[in-house]
Amino acid sequence: MAPEQPEKFSEVLYDLDEVVMDGLTHWQSPGWFGYFPANASFPSILGELASAGLGQQGMLWSTSPASTEIESRVLDWLVDLLGLPPEWKTTGPGGGVIQMSASDSTHTALVVARHLASRSAGIDSLVAYTSEQAHSSIEKGARVAGYQHLRLIEVDDVYAMSPPALETAMSEDLDDGLTPAFIGSAVGTTGTTAVDPVRRIGEIAKEFEVWHHVDAAYAGSAMICPEFRHLQDGVELADSYTFNPHKWMFTNFDCSVFYVRDRSPLIDTLSILPPYLRDQVSESGQVIDYRDWHVPLGRRFRALKLWFVLRSYGAEGIRHHIRQHVALARDLEQRLADDDRFELIAPTPFALVSFRHVDGNDATENLGTAINASGHSYVTPSKIGDLAFIRVSIGQTHTEHRHLDRLWSVIDRAA
Ligand SMILES: Cc1ncc(COP(=O)(O)O)c(C=O)c1O
Repeated sequence: MAPEQPEKFSEVLYDLDEVVMDGLTHWQSPGWFGYFPANASFPSILGELASAGLGQQGMLWSTSPASTEIESRVLDWLVDLLGLPPEWKTTGPGGGVIQMSASDSTHTALVVARHLASRSAGIDSLVAYTSEQAHSSIEKGARVAGYQHLRLIEVDDVYAMSPPALETAMSEDLDDGLTPAFIGSAVGTTGTTAVDPVRRIGEIAKEFEVWHHVDAAYAGSAMICPEFRHLQDGVELADSYTFNPHKWMFTNFDCSVFYVRDRSPLIDTLSILPPYLRDQVSESGQVIDYRDWHVPLGRRFRALKLWFVLRSYGAEGIRHHIRQHVALARDLEQRLADDDRFELIAPTPFALVSFRHVDGNDATENLGTAINASGHSYVTPSKIGDLAFIRVSIGQTHTEHRHLDRLWSVIDRAA
């Protein structure tokens, strides 16, 4: 029963410790190797607290000028820090906006693509394309955006989208009177962090005049280290791009970044201007009103925590941690490769290691269960088709070598 009378706050906190904590999953533990990380940091938590205390509502520039300006500034910084095309800055034709999740960013891209393509074709004829390994948010976004046709394009032996298969599917659809409207490619798929050939897909998108969205939800953070940028070669051809600081940039959930190469189609698609939202500053055309950049109108000051993180760590600090996670992943990959009991099922371009037990699916599933029963380490048992495997995702803020050793000891014992 909900309390009728006010309770002491100490009692509420007591229940948080004694009742709720036991029911939580410890994503912030250094032994967390599940899914992708949703890491956090002290500056980010302070930024979240400050944002809650300041209670800003930045739907229009004028309803919170500083929160809009900081958001634009921080996302422009990230364009430079991640080596993204300079025209994606808000000072250029493009720009970035913070959304709740990569699913929201991808949904927005699908809606803009639909808006553009439906100027010359019926909505029923529009087709969206992505790979069989793409995140389910593309399928969900396409459904919500009203696409009647979604093609899941086959992948090669390292789970990256096949450009010839994409071209064939698009040509066949055109022959059948359908209209290709959207391609979603991935830099770092959820299953195994496979990397689609972004440049070739971007060229195909240009040939067919369709919107190309790049989903780098997890791997985008790694681009702060120049040595990973070749993996998204051709990104300048993309129309939009998303990555999640709330996965691997020490910024607590929620914080997903969405960039567009040109902000005009986005604003044309989403801007609706009732009288109560009009004001002189907006009409001057000199400012950004982020309400036009996504579905929600109201928006909180999410940029503050990212600003706190970037300033407190510095780019060098973030690079240091990301490189450390990648080095730990390479260490684990090597241990597995050197051991006859295991096989790697995919390359490790970032910090996710995908492996299985050579004795087959049952042995692999039993191993996953044993690791997760350890109480100190947690991994994600998964499948591609009928192939069972284990995903070890290294990216929690405080994961160190000793945590990897602890994980290895249970793998070694249970295999
Ligand atoms: C490649 C990829 N895209 C999209 C998503 C969805 O992210 P979000 O939870 O921010 O919607 C994920 C989640 O893990 C992902 O791995």
